[in-house]
Amino acid sequence: MLCLGIETSCDDTSLALVEDGKLIGQETSSQDKVHALFGGVVPELASREHARFIGPLFDRLMETAGRAALDIDVVAVARGPGLLGSLLVGMAFAKALCLGTGARLIGVNHLHAHLLAAGLERELVFPAVGLLVSGGHTDLYRISGPDGFTRLGRTLDDAAGEAFDKAGKMLGLPYPAGRIMDELAQRGKADPKLFPRPYLDNDSLDFSFSGLKTAMSVHMAKAGIQPAGLRDASGELGVVADAAGELADLCASFTLAVVETLYEKTRRALVLPACADAKSVIMAGGVAANSFLRNKIEALAGQFNKDYILPSSGLCTDNGAMSAYAGWLLAEKGYSHGLDLVPVPRGKAVPLDMLCAHSA
Ligand code: KG4
Ligand code: ZN
Repeated sequence: MLCLGIETSCDDTSLALVEDGKLIGQETSSQDKVHALFGGVVPELASREHARFIGPLFDRLMETAGRAALDIDVVAVARGPGLLGSLLVGMAFAKALCLGTGARLIGVNHLHAHLLAAGLERELVFPAVGLLVSGGHTDLYRISGPDGFTRLGRTLDDAAGEAFDKAGKMLGLPYPAGRIMDELAQRGKADPKLFPRPYLDNDSLDFSFSGLKTAMSVHMAKAGIQPAGLRDASGELGVVADAAGELADLCASFTLAVVETLYEKTRRALVLPACADAKSVIMAGGVAANSFLRNKIEALAGQFNKDYILPSSGLCTDNGAMSAYAGWLLAEKGYSHGLDLVPVPRGKAVPLDMLCAHSA
């Protein structure tokens, strides 16, 4: 079964082909440079870029893989949550393709696709506790299978990646700041007392990261830290601009606060009676590329004697392969959608009833 995956939920246009569970091709166009000018994703620009690139990316993908549109059995498209205009571009393309070729349509939950992505590289083991940490979401799940996600907790405000991006912006780092803060943190020394571990003093598995950016801004004001002063004369960030290691230390302290908070809530999920039968811990999303978080969650899984499942960095950030793979898994289970499928914007739950048994 050949499944085309389409990912246009935020600012990356990415299309991929999965055949019988194996990735056979992927084409991606990143918009990081477009949005970096504004310090964050500009939704209207994102949808314009998707509309510009989706056609050429599809042509290149099919040509490189040596396949024709009529070879596609299933078109899996990220249906949400995401930016509405961006989702609509991928959705319109997917539906047109299904109409033209007779392929089956499957709308994929973008968050579930993130957590299933590792299945392209190794066998997934269920039930699992899933930690999804991205620029738009921070969620904990109990996962019984590709169609069995129960959300245990979510962020009430900023996502973990958003916390990195916003703190990085204050420090004068380019968007998205997570990766560069990670690199800087590796050179710095963390002060464990500098930032709070937010929203731990309760029984809930929800997160709240918005206070961390306030803590960063308060600290910068108190310590008289100027973001512009952290750049060198050419405006580039680097060791020269951070000769005293001030930026690296701040990034290390901030990263520790985010990582320890994620660790603690994941640990609490693992001791829930509902998760006692979990065999693995799956982590995914852009922030799962963070080197400190990877080490901590791996250690946690080891402590609980669970299999630790983490996609490689390229599969952590948004990509078409994860849509294609999640769609392929669901198609294998006999699911499909009608062409009346609607996208789900950020902040709204993707309905569980969206999948129906395929009757063919
Ligand atoms: O999953 P993703 O590509 O897009 C969303 O669906 O949001 O995640 C992007 C997020 C950004 O906030 C980015 O700063 C963060 O992932 N990120 C990182 C790292 N690499 C990417 N955060 C911390 N450490 C990293 N190494
Ligand atoms: Zn994502």
